[in-house]
Amino acid sequence: MGARISRLDLDGVAALKTGSPRRSSDSERRKSAEEKVNGHAHAHRDDNPKFDIPRNLEGIPRLEVQHYLMRYLYQGNFKSPVQETLNAGHARVLDLGCGAGTWAIEVAKEFPSAEVTGVDITNFFPSDVTTPNVNFIEHNFQERKRLPFDDNTFDLVHMRFLLADVKEEDYQNTLIPELVRVTKPDGWIELLEFDVQHYSEGPVIRRLTNALSKHLQSKGYNPSISDNLPRYLKQTNLVGTVHQFDKAIPLGHWAGRVGDLAIEDLSILFLDTNELPQSMGITEEEYQHLIEVYKEEVEERKTFFRTHRFFGQKFNKLSEKS
Ligand SMILES: C[S@@+](CC[C@H](N)C(=O)[O-])C[C@H]1O[C@@H](n2cnc3c(N)ncnc32)[C@H](O)[C@@H]1O
Repeated sequence: MGARISRLDLDGVAALKTGSPRRSSDSERRKSAEEKVNGHAHAHRDDNPKFDIPRNLEGIPRLEVQHYLMRYLYQGNFKSPVQETLNAGHARVLDLGCGAGTWAIEVAKEFPSAEVTGVDITNFFPSDVTTPNVNFIEHNFQERKRLPFDDNTFDLVHMRFLLADVKEEDYQNTLIPELVRVTKPDGWIELLEFDVQHYSEGPVIRRLTNALSKHLQSKGYNPSISDNLPRYLKQTNLVGTVHQFDKAIPLGHWAGRVGDLAIEDLSILFLDTNELPQSMGITEEEYQHLIEVYKEEVEERKTFFRTHRFFGQKFNKLSEKS
């Protein structure tokens, strides 16, 4: 796996932990300038307004906190070089498995002349969206494999963290080909996934992550799907070079605020995986105790896990494929 990592860093973590120039007294003063977006207070800082983690995340759903973490660590909502296209007018963006739509709404705000569509099986879409250029569609792509869009519709197609929702065979045989089908020639497809495996593990971390991996595999999900995503994109024969950008996410207070948020996020993920105690052959109480020990171990070991961002451009002409 190490050989596959093209860029991996903990830079953003150091900035948040030790206090970077962005945490200047100027920005402290500006923090009072908070805007209300989707009913949540989002810290607004002029020096880096888009990519900071909001100060007050109390009561904000897990997926949204996760979104801010990713946006901070990758310093942006995507890496594909599509800014110009999205600013040119009439561009279209798709976010598949958009959850509560945070990513879609932010991209719509950032590119007001683009039209952003979020698709999800569950209708958790915010009802109070005031952004006019975002819309949401309820669609279950496991049930209806064909996405409800014409070929060559979108300039940017984005999908993030569906590893535990989509079986590997569906990623390979239907989902990735569908994402590419609905992308315009010269458009970009961008995927962000995490690995269940942790690094700098202790025995309890290893026990829990191995159990989660086995559990996911037993249902047809691949806990290391990111190993295969570049290949699945290329297998469509419609995508050229797949670029990769990786980030390590530290777990625990040793890594400052990022680590605090990340360990909270992963603890909830473990706690929410209801079937895991049974598949590990332990009681609920034993399982909860293991999660407490897991939280201690990540501090002792300075544990982290990895996320991977892939982005590739759809060919424009058939001749470009060769
Ligand atoms: C872990 S969440 C990630 C949400 C979002 N991409 C994010 O990063 O915040 C996975 C999302 O995939 C959606 N999902 C799962 N299975 C789906 C399906 N068959 N069709 C459409 N959406 C699905 C879930 O409802 C959930 O919102």
